[in-house]
Amino acid sequence: MNDTLSLLKQEALLKIKDINTLSDLENVRLEYLSKKGHISLMMSKLRDLPNEERPAFGAMVNTVKQDVEKALYDKKQILEEKALLETLQNEHIDVTLPGYKLYQGSTHPLNQVIEDIEDLFMGMGYTVEEGPELENDLYNFEMMNLDKDHPARDMQDTFYVDENTLLRTHTSPVQARTMLKMKGEPLKIICPGKVYRRDDDDPTHSHQFTQIEGLVIDKDISFAHLKDALLTMVQHLFGSERNIRLRPSYFPFTEPSVEVDVSYIKKDGSVGYIEILGAGLVHPNVLKMGGYDPNIYKGFAFGVGVERIAILKYNIDDIRHFYVNDLRFLNQFKGVKKI
Ligand code: DAH
Repeated sequence: MNDTLSLLKQEALLKIKDINTLSDLENVRLEYLSKKGHISLMMSKLRDLPNEERPAFGAMVNTVKQDVEKALYDKKQILEEKALLETLQNEHIDVTLPGYKLYQGSTHPLNQVIEDIEDLFMGMGYTVEEGPELENDLYNFEMMNLDKDHPARDMQDTFYVDENTLLRTHTSPVQARTMLKMKGEPLKIICPGKVYRRDDDDPTHSHQFTQIEGLVIDKDISFAHLKDALLTMVQHLFGSERNIRLRPSYFPFTEPSVEVDVSYIKKDGSVGYIEILGAGLVHPNVLKMGGYDPNIYKGFAFGVGVERIAILKYNIDDIRHFYVNDLRFLNQFKGVKKI
């Protein structure tokens, strides 16, 4: 029996020595070490031996097994190293070949404007609030001082989902929601988001567009604070040479209300003004419904159209460019990080 074992071992080691490929090596491994391999078969012969011979024979088979395993392992290292060297010798890297062109995306121009305005106001202590686009009549209109049959509802053609649910027509409902959340505490927020109105889509109108709402409530808020916030925003967006002009206007949620225009230099060198947003001091009814005593608290608010800002800023001729994902249009805004 011993002889058979040592022969088996010699034979295995010889084969391993002569092998030149990893797949041949695997075949030898299977031949000797798999369940039905020669060494496993030797182990199964234990059963036929008398009890007293079993331990010694078992130990011998194990030693042979370990020796063969070790030989296989060593050879595998050698063959793998050889294969690696061959690959390194055969494969050359041509560093002069042109690289892959990686296309880099960029932030959508509307989001660039939003992020820029958010950065500006956060730097002045405002927080950013968001609200749902599918809104209750209560927040969109009633708490903004537009009760059910208020004529000014006509100013905002509305997509109703049912009698009390609609696609918000402006970001102003986030004012109401935040006031209730703040439970009478002073607040300074801006609220960016999409809004919807029934409108034909043409170069200057879209049934969906983007607004940013601003709202500040505190004890000593005056019109001067509003004017300062607006001038800061306009000069940040369009440059420090610009000025603003406030014209009396009407919004149900503010009193007094203003339309805000930004100055520009006309072709003939004279100063012109373009309307960019609506604003005002928060109407006492809105404060009251939001949980603030209008005798103690005052507020200012504004609502600005993001598309309008981007159109003026980048001289864009059709609002629909923003929504159709034409890469030729969008690629123009690559790398415009700060506006
Ligand atoms: N919500 C108004 C609109 O969409 C814009 C607006 C005007 C918002 C005056 C305000 C404001 O907060 O004070 O037409």
